[in-house]
Amino acid sequence: MSDAQIKNNNATLNIEGKKIDLPYIKGTEGEIGLDVSKLRGQSGVITLDVGFKNTGSTTSAITFLDGEQGILRHRGYAIEDLTEKCSFLEVAYLLIYGELPSKETFEKFDTQIRNHTLVHEDIQKIFNAYPTGSHPMGQITTLVSSLSSFYPQSLNPNRSEDEINLTIIRLLAKMITLASMIYKKSIGHPIIYPDNNLDYVSNFLNMTFKKVSEPYQMDPIVVDTLNKLLILHADHEQNCSTSTVRMVGSSQANLYASISAGVVALWGPLHGGANQKVIEMLEAIKDDGGNVHKYINKAKDKNDPFRLMGFGHRVYKNYDPRAKIIKKNCDQILENLGINDPVLDIAKNLEETALNDQYFIDRKLFPNIDFYSGIIYRAIGFPLDMFTVLFALGRLPGWIAQWKEMQSQNQPISRPRQIYTGEKARDFVDISAR
Ligand code: SDX
Repeated sequence: MSDAQIKNNNATLNIEGKKIDLPYIKGTEGEIGLDVSKLRGQSGVITLDVGFKNTGSTTSAITFLDGEQGILRHRGYAIEDLTEKCSFLEVAYLLIYGELPSKETFEKFDTQIRNHTLVHEDIQKIFNAYPTGSHPMGQITTLVSSLSSFYPQSLNPNRSEDEINLTIIRLLAKMITLASMIYKKSIGHPIIYPDNNLDYVSNFLNMTFKKVSEPYQMDPIVVDTLNKLLILHADHEQNCSTSTVRMVGSSQANLYASISAGVVALWGPLHGGANQKVIEMLEAIKDDGGNVHKYINKAKDKNDPFRLMGFGHRVYKNYDPRAKIIKKNCDQILENLGINDPVLDIAKNLEETALNDQYFIDRKLFPNIDFYSGIIYRAIGFPLDMFTVLFALGRLPGWIAQWKEMQSQNQPISRPRQIYTGEKARDFVDISAR
């Protein structure tokens, strides 16, 4: 029990001599959340928590994180089990609909997805508007949002459950097609259409790497690895991009627009964009003679904006369980693929040095999901600027699940308050007198 005065589910605030009783709620794992939804009405007082480091925006039944213990569960199932025993599409179903599907239910879901992988041919015209070299994240943002133009019935805020599910199926199905189209267009190759005899991840790999003139040799190790990587990215409670999806969705914006907003938020180098930055950082260290101590010192220098990309986390103050799984698989995958990537050795050296450095120990900075993932993406053959698109592909079911949950909770439009620190009222000054 926290040390605040908590009795009968209430905490008592004492503000300038005025006592205010605040209810609190307890989560499934015993977390305590002060419910301040009536605080301003009772007292005119609001809370201030820049970056929402201590603020819960919602209740949710989808994902549980314990940052101190390094625990991650989806709908009660440990990430270690899901990664080992499920396909990505099964985990997508679990996140969105709340239960692991039966064989029959999964086959129906899988068939629906396969039947919706095609995108309207007019979508290809959008690609003609991009200058060569446009970042894939900017492209996928536009393309996802453009789907509402091809399916205008998704704009109806009072759409039925069936219509919402059809939109969910369309988005999951078309995301692999759009992502592979972006890659093909970026290298000037003709796009490869979906082959719906293939499972979700194999279909994506085939559309991405198959060349028109020759069959693509599907490597089961690559399929298994990408399934695992996508599962590890599938959801992560109220992170920056997911909170953005919920925020945009709370205005009754359609699912395509809400997800497109999440993609934009993910792009930032402090968030999903970190996986690309990690490889750029490791390459820079390699080119600089592998001097990891120099970069550890740069990361510790407050006058140097350099940060150790792929290190640190808002919630995990222990090893990110996802990073642990990826690292464990990294060696095996590269060996199975016959790849010797020198940046892997640099990454391990950097990690070992940082984990034994007091600065990182004091701040509980550990490798996060982005630290090793890029090494595997690169081993599979994806270019650097596609890494965050792959993160978005993995996070898509989580975003959808969170958006769907928010809709079912009938939550009000999100509209935070502020503490004003600007000028007091003052008389207007005409330009002639300024
Ligand atoms: C993801 O939220 C999620 O769940 C996100 C995610 C998901 O699945 O959705 O897990 C995915 O975004 C992972 C994070 C990817 N980003 C990076 O790897 C970028 C590098 N990491 C940092 O920028 C940082 O650690 C954050 C952004 C991840 C977390 O930042 P916080 O929680 O706001 O912490 P902070 O910036 O206040 O840092 C606390 C201290 C500071 O030092 P002091 O001011 O106390 O002296 O730790 C230092 C920071 O300077 N610090 C780092 C550091 N991360 C934090 N110092 C050097 N290198 C770093 N990477």
